[in-house]
Amino acid sequence: MTTILLGQTLAFTSDPFTTEPADAARHETHGAVAIGADGRILGVGPADDICAAHPEAARIDHGDALILPGFVDAHVHYPQTAMIASWGKRLIDWLNSYTFPEEAQFFDPAYSAEIADRYLDLALANGTTSFCTFCTIHPGSVDAIFEAAGRRNMGVWAGKTCMDRNATANLHDTVRSAYDDSAALLAKWHGVGRASYVITPRFAPTSSREQLEALGALWAAHPDCLMQTHLSEQTDEIAWVAELFPEARDYLDVYEAHGLLGTNGLYGHAIHLSARERDRLAEVGAAVTHCPTSNTFIGSGLFDMELASRMRVGLATDTGGGSSFSMLRTMAAAYEIAQLRRNALHPAQLLWLATEGSANALGSGEIGRLAPGAMADLVVLDLASTPAIAQRSARADDIWQTVFPTIMMGDDRAVARVYVAGQAVD
Ligand code: GUN
Ligand code: ZN
Repeated sequence: MTTILLGQTLAFTSDPFTTEPADAARHETHGAVAIGADGRILGVGPADDICAAHPEAARIDHGDALILPGFVDAHVHYPQTAMIASWGKRLIDWLNSYTFPEEAQFFDPAYSAEIADRYLDLALANGTTSFCTFCTIHPGSVDAIFEAAGRRNMGVWAGKTCMDRNATANLHDTVRSAYDDSAALLAKWHGVGRASYVITPRFAPTSSREQLEALGALWAAHPDCLMQTHLSEQTDEIAWVAELFPEARDYLDVYEAHGLLGTNGLYGHAIHLSARERDRLAEVGAAVTHCPTSNTFIGSGLFDMELASRMRVGLATDTGGGSSFSMLRTMAAAYEIAQLRRNALHPAQLLWLATEGSANALGSGEIGRLAPGAMADLVVLDLASTPAIAQRSARADDIWQTVFPTIMMGDDRAVARVYVAGQAVD
């Protein structure tokens, strides 16, 4: 059975970081998206054309709401859902004070399942249909998120966080268990339904050389998997890495020396990079994730969006270092950080980062696009969801001005509907 959604549509035709942003997408005021029985997009375009091509299709009319690809959150810690917005610390003491005690609770499969469900409900309520998450050291935390996402048919990337030093004793795995548990989870989940396994050393300070080496070997054996970690988020952290790995040229070199630098590598934050590190990331074709609400909340620094012209950049909440589950709020924070660097990001660039840009960072052409063949994971945005937004967007001359107030001031009230693989989420 084919279904047609009617509304405004905005479909990117090129990368707004390498082409004129305003011309990077096709906008239809009376647009439509046709969805096939397999949950994939059949066509996008003017409503008259799409309806004529699928005369038998059921129709769902979203009025003048804007149909976009569902948001893709390229770096999140779902186990940190319950401790989001914890006050007053910077990265290392934030980890020790709030994060590690919370993550220790995931030894309990029932708690893992409860938080996985809660996180997915919050993500969907905010229009996020796919994400790439760190779990905890406990294999059960990986099972919990893949099982919960599978029940919702969501495309999810996740991996067991590995760390064998510098956390708390109850959160340490070993070289052997990190390798064996990651390998077993990869075999169990990678490519099952819409699940993708991600090899996940937390960051250089919490892994021994031997553990980094073991995970590098696992990645070499499964090069199609993503590998996610953190890179150069805070200056204190970078100094610590230099102490722990005096033989390394820089932070990125620690990963490279242990087989953890590659095209399928996804490096979180990447704020305080040397010229050599930037060049090397670009050279190998790696991707980085920008986590703007986290970078201001934990006081990390200002990401340089110029990187987007050199490498793939995903946009991410970094829940719960980030202070919001909303990719709208995350786009707003990205705009504000770029402004502090005298770079006014165009609404097209913000929307692209939150959808196709993040999907590209995850190496997926299946999500993040309003295009035939892509999964019909969609968000329908009410562009007048509050009186403040409505009065501002009423003055707009084009779609970019119309959508920008929702980017800057919108929240889950702007999310009118979400579709996962073509099915409306209740
Ligand atoms: N670096 C290592 N672990 C973490 C984490 O959980 N959150 C953030 N923001 N940075 C990290
Ligand atoms: Zn993170």
